[in-house]
Amino acid sequence: MCGIVAFNGLNDAEERIIQGLEKLEYRGYDSAGIAIIEDDKLQVVKAAGRLEALTDKLKDRPLKGTVGIGHTRWATHGVPTETNAHPHVSSDGRVAVVHNGIIENFQAIKDDLSEKGYTFYSDTDTEVVANLIASKFQGDLRKAVEDSINDVVGTFSLAVLSVDDPDKLIVTRRESPLILGICDDGVFAASDVPALLAYTRDVIYLNNDDIVEIDKDSYHIYNHGNPVQRDVQTVEWSLESAGKEGYDHYMIKEIFEQPKAIKDCLRRKVTDGFIDLKDQSFTKEEIEAFDHIYISACGTAFHASQVGKRALEDALQREITADIASEFRYNMPFLNENSLLIVVSQSGETGDTLAVLREAKLRGAKVLAITNVVGSSVDRESDKVMYCDAGPEISVASTKAYSTQLLSLYLLALDFGYKLGTYGREDVKMAIEEFESIPGKIEEILEDIDTLDPIAERLAKHPAVFYLGRGIDYLSAKEGALKLKEISYIHAQSMPAGELKHGSIALIEEGIPVVTIITQSPLVEKSISNIKEVKARGAYTIAITDEISTQFSDLSDAVIRVPAISDLYAPILAVLPQQVLAYKVSVLLGNDVDKPRNLAKSVTVE
Ligand code: AGP
Repeated sequence: MCGIVAFNGLNDAEERIIQGLEKLEYRGYDSAGIAIIEDDKLQVVKAAGRLEALTDKLKDRPLKGTVGIGHTRWATHGVPTETNAHPHVSSDGRVAVVHNGIIENFQAIKDDLSEKGYTFYSDTDTEVVANLIASKFQGDLRKAVEDSINDVVGTFSLAVLSVDDPDKLIVTRRESPLILGICDDGVFAASDVPALLAYTRDVIYLNNDDIVEIDKDSYHIYNHGNPVQRDVQTVEWSLESAGKEGYDHYMIKEIFEQPKAIKDCLRRKVTDGFIDLKDQSFTKEEIEAFDHIYISACGTAFHASQVGKRALEDALQREITADIASEFRYNMPFLNENSLLIVVSQSGETGDTLAVLREAKLRGAKVLAITNVVGSSVDRESDKVMYCDAGPEISVASTKAYSTQLLSLYLLALDFGYKLGTYGREDVKMAIEEFESIPGKIEEILEDIDTLDPIAERLAKHPAVFYLGRGIDYLSAKEGALKLKEISYIHAQSMPAGELKHGSIALIEEGIPVVTIITQSPLVEKSISNIKEVKARGAYTIAITDEISTQFSDLSDAVIRVPAISDLYAPILAVLPQQVLAYKVSVLLGNDVDKPRNLAKSVTVE
């Protein structure tokens, strides 16, 4: 996600801001910029690409001034270019803004400001905020910011400068974190603690809708116009751990970010409790005209795609093809100009997935991408795109990307099904209500993860683990097995539970762990018989289930319960215990959890 660093004090701001941005690089970004008030003039320097591109420009022309704002951009609106980089300046040149978050109603505000004569040069929602503040400015920058955020719907942390109030730095936040760093010679505002630690450990975690007016030697916090006090806290973290916000690894941090990721993924796809994909999807006529729909991806993204296939088949009442990209590229004889290809890719740069996308485009097919990286190759080369909005996923093992890929596919299926009449308005509303309950359900699961420790200790002792499931539960089992094998190096095999007796059951021996996913109501009895089958041969059986039945307790050595949800949506919850188990086993084995051997975060080679 984006990084903000701002400073107002008695010493030069440029150096402090740049060092802070360097400490936020771990967050992932694609461009950077800085604005400083120098001799009462607004000086802005921006660069696409790495931070070095910005600091190279500053070496040639350093900025002198003690109040400034800086930014590293993780694109959400508008591809990564210097034009779209922050800071953004109002068209009258008076106000500069850096922003982290998503302004949902930016288009309506932009249209209104355009009618008032404001002009725009970028594709970003942030530039709209800069012009909105300029339009509200009547001599008091804090008031202008306060009046502006009252009009905004969405999430933001903002740092604002104006040549008309040159000694002031105004910062504010809603949902997107912003922290003050209190120094002897001034005050920082930053997205995250690492940016501050070189100068101070005294911090203030701002509340939603706090607005802070920072002068050279003081700061005042307001909330809805009233002065408020916030406690100064002392950060105990080391710089190394601070990037992970106190978590030991990015993977566990990203597992715990899933409630927020789900909320953010819904933000741009749902309006007033109803599906609203805007230009991310196709019209009824276009959907009806597709002769066939294909979904293709790799690894975890493919596992999500297979669940997406089920959702789309239910919505369209016709067969959908889902295939692994590295195979599908050699086996797509029927894909043609009347087909739709859906590609799913966290990084948007996976070589095998891009190969399929490019072949489909050569044949004239339409392509819809589901990706987590704005401006990625998959994004730029597709006809339509749905962003997962999960924020940067740093750990090689994909977690929040998987859950937001699932949600995006569910939403796409809901959109298609509603347009084609399979689902009525009430069906859609009920599904959206279930989606909105997912963050809370995930938090419920994550409250009890310490209870998984004994299970993880058992798994860590075995060279092989089985993951079983029937129907959609088998698709969840595939993701669980991949998580375990890629970060623990244990041979984890997923298979359809019904298939075990056709050969693989020969591998079941005393003590071997067998994880069985049981969430599909019509298949519970059959899945129970599979547990009995392996238990009779000495397996250590673990059931992951949303069934409240007590029979599992007698039957399984361990039962991990997840909250109930519609069968089709169960994978989004059943994956949580599997992600956590894999993480715990990897830590027990002393592996490099975030950078496991032989693996890369984005496999750009074919
Ligand atoms: C998932 O944990 C793996 N890191 C890997 O399977 C990954 O999902 C796969 O390489 C696809 O990557 P993409 O989503 O960036 O295309």
